[in-house]
Amino acid sequence: MAKNIQEYPAQTRPSPRQRLLEQFHNVRTFSEHLCEPLEIEDYVVQSMPDVSPTKWHLAHTSWFFETFILEPNLKDYRSPHPQYTYLFNSYYNSVGERHCRANRGLISRPTVQEIYVYRHYIDECMHNLLEQCDDATLERLTPLVTLGINHEQQHQELIVTDIKHVLSCNPLYPAYHTHKLTPVAATPALNWISYPEGIARIGFEGDGFFYDNEGPRHRQFLESYQLASRLVTNGEYLAFMNDGGYKNPLLWLSMGWSTVQSTEWEAPLYWEHLDGRWHMMTLSGLQEVDLNAPVCHVSYFEADAYARWANARLATEAEWEVAAQGLPLQGNFVESGALQPLPLQAHTHTPQAAQPEQMYGDVWEWTQSAYLAYPGYKPAPGAIGEYNGKFMCNQFVLRGGSCATSVTHIRPTYRNFFPPDARWQFMGIRLAREV
Ligand SMILES: [Fe+2]
Repeated sequence: MAKNIQEYPAQTRPSPRQRLLEQFHNVRTFSEHLCEPLEIEDYVVQSMPDVSPTKWHLAHTSWFFETFILEPNLKDYRSPHPQYTYLFNSYYNSVGERHCRANRGLISRPTVQEIYVYRHYIDECMHNLLEQCDDATLERLTPLVTLGINHEQQHQELIVTDIKHVLSCNPLYPAYHTHKLTPVAATPALNWISYPEGIARIGFEGDGFFYDNEGPRHRQFLESYQLASRLVTNGEYLAFMNDGGYKNPLLWLSMGWSTVQSTEWEAPLYWEHLDGRWHMMTLSGLQEVDLNAPVCHVSYFEADAYARWANARLATEAEWEVAAQGLPLQGNFVESGALQPLPLQAHTHTPQAAQPEQMYGDVWEWTQSAYLAYPGYKPAPGAIGEYNGKFMCNQFVLRGGSCATSVTHIRPTYRNFFPPDARWQFMGIRLAREV
């Protein structure tokens, strides 16, 4: 991944142009690196409407650069495949008509090889544009190119989560990779960290990239609250299951209870009860559930019901962000290569953790906050304004990134969002409560 500017001695620091080119190529290369373990057949499958085939992600991220940067800015640029915009536009109404999302898995042509050729053509055109444009153009294009880079990182996470779902549908439990995990003897005790009441400031401020939904920075009054020092583990979640958690309507929101009834959920996604023991599908194939690892692949409804069972609640996104402010941005990200949440290691904690652990990486943490605009929020004009704002309805905010997120992609102010019944992302639980 891209180096930090501090890693270069002053006399050899790359120019803004070199840095942008390096970031662009690093991210484009990493997408293809994530696909190296795949067989050609894996690229094409769409296992449910929310999942996109790997080859669609590879093409769509290229289409993004083509549509928003190359076509408006590279003189005489003509797409080698003008019909691709119909296939690879995701949800941009202002760009034009597009193919049905749920039917992406039916598109066997263009082939995977043809999509790689398309990708490399886009890479070459982007390289030439960024290398040859004048400084004023570079300055004007940099925010858009950076958005494209971050957009591709979001799709890298989806490549991982979507292929996990695809492989989980195969009764042979094929493994994407073989990653040896180090078990831990026990989970550190959960303790509660207190935060005082007061007016907090949340939202992005400063230099660097952020999505429009992270701003404007603004004030929010918070009552005093407590946050759990670590994530909820599989073992703790199993206690909820064994206590009849999925059978007690008093623990569930009404929509959650009807979802449990209609889907017949009785455990997190990917869990299977085999030979008297709970197993789960991972990207390393079927494994016995590690009771010390963070619980993962639970919906908002399950996170909320678990919290109620545990005499606690989910944090608001403001509470989460205040707790995250000032913490080091480190954790189990995609760069670790594990691609699954890891147990909290004993050496990383003191008996009474003074700061919350596992805030970044491992699993996206459901908050109780509806995904809404911050005060004063205005989406960008034009098609780019469709990126975030139009999804501010019927979704909940998740914070902190996961084991499929890049460390260069996450921030304390980062707002992810999914509908309350979604489970296929790496989603987990941290508890909060009143003081
Ligand atoms: Fe996209």
